[in-house]
Amino acid sequence: MFFELDHPCVKAKLTILRDRATGPKQFRECVGEIACLVACEALRTLELEDVEVVTPMATTRGWRIRNEVVIVPILRAGLGMLEGILRLVPNAKVGFVGLERDHLTAEPREYYCKLPEATADSVAVVVDPMLATGGSLAATIDVLKRNGFTWIVVVTVLASPEGKRAIAEKHPDVRVYTGCLDAGLNAEKYIVPGLGDAGDRLFGTL
Ligand code: PRP
Ligand code: URA
Repeated sequence: MFFELDHPCVKAKLTILRDRATGPKQFRECVGEIACLVACEALRTLELEDVEVVTPMATTRGWRIRNEVVIVPILRAGLGMLEGILRLVPNAKVGFVGLERDHLTAEPREYYCKLPEATADSVAVVVDPMLATGGSLAATIDVLKRNGFTWIVVVTVLASPEGKRAIAEKHPDVRVYTGCLDAGLNAEKYIVPGLGDAGDRLFGTL
């Protein structure tokens, strides 16, 4: 299942990200803010449990999140979204999957994996700004499933129709939330109009 956020704040911030003149500082800020906005929608189905809260005026009903949220940034670019999502779920655990797309074949190569143990209440939130061919995301979901995660949602900044299709075919049970579904991929498998190489723009390695 695939959801594109239709929100004026996301559209305005995405325009800043797309602008090739935007530098790493503002790029990082906007990625974090969009991550937070898209994650708000992606986390709508989290479960709550009741707690009692004492206000200065009375005792009343309150809630806390019942699930164990595990945020999984795909290294490197996913790191740019981590802080934005931790603002929503500050008690979340964080796992890491390191993948790098081959420049010629666009195939992902795994170089790192460190995940907390999955529990019956775990919700894995995979974060990566770019869903292009879908290879990196599909490989990450494979890793999570092999490690026992069954409830998996994805938060991205941009997605391509090709990536959307790939995940729907390989992982139809996973919900993908994005800030914008772009037109498609170019010959080098970059998203168009896109925003370029997210990792390089976040970390100044252009
Ligand atoms: C980028 C991006 C995704 C992947 C998307 O990472 O952050 O992880 O490419 O492409 P795909 O959908 O075709 O797999 P990259 O491999 O460039 O690594 P980086 O984050 O270290 O820059
Ligand atoms: N990875 C990126 O960083 N950008 C793209 O457009 C595609 C993959």
